[in-house]
Amino acid sequence: MERDVKTILVLNGPNLNLLGQRQPEIYGHENLDDVKALAQAACAEGFSIEQKQSNWEGQLIDWIHEARGTTAGIVINPGALTHTSVALLDALNTYEGPVIEVHISQVHKREPFRHHSYVSKRADAVIAGLGVDGYGAAIRRICKLQS
Ligand code: DQA
Repeated sequence: MERDVKTILVLNGPNLNLLGQRQPEIYGHENLDDVKALAQAACAEGFSIEQKQSNWEGQLIDWIHEARGTTAGIVINPGALTHTSVALLDALNTYEGPVIEVHISQVHKREPFRHHSYVSKRADAVIAGLGVDGYGAAIRRICKLQS
């Protein structure tokens, strides 16, 4: 019997294209290709990953809109937009499935401006400080919720 594969969207915001090169003492040495491989490995049977990155707020918003009704969940690391973007929050509020917010670093022990997240007002879970393993944990949780 053929089964539909459910897609989980992994979204990365500004500056995360430089993951692995950018402040490795904070964000580590793994890059977005490593994140994709790790996310795919964390997927349960019947799920697949679609990973996207943009430095542009509007592009991330368009991708969230496109995910409506077509995906099993969103894992999002909004980068600095976490702390500034009501528009990203509004977009996520149009999405019906589970949303998990991931931060590679432990934002709560960093500068005070990183302690507030607009996205957390919508996220069903927030992971911070697990390094890139946070993406795997988020994928496993969405697979569990949507199985
Ligand atoms: C980040 C934390 C944000 O404060 C920062 O602006 C980022 C990355 C993280 O993954 O730890 O770009 O979201």
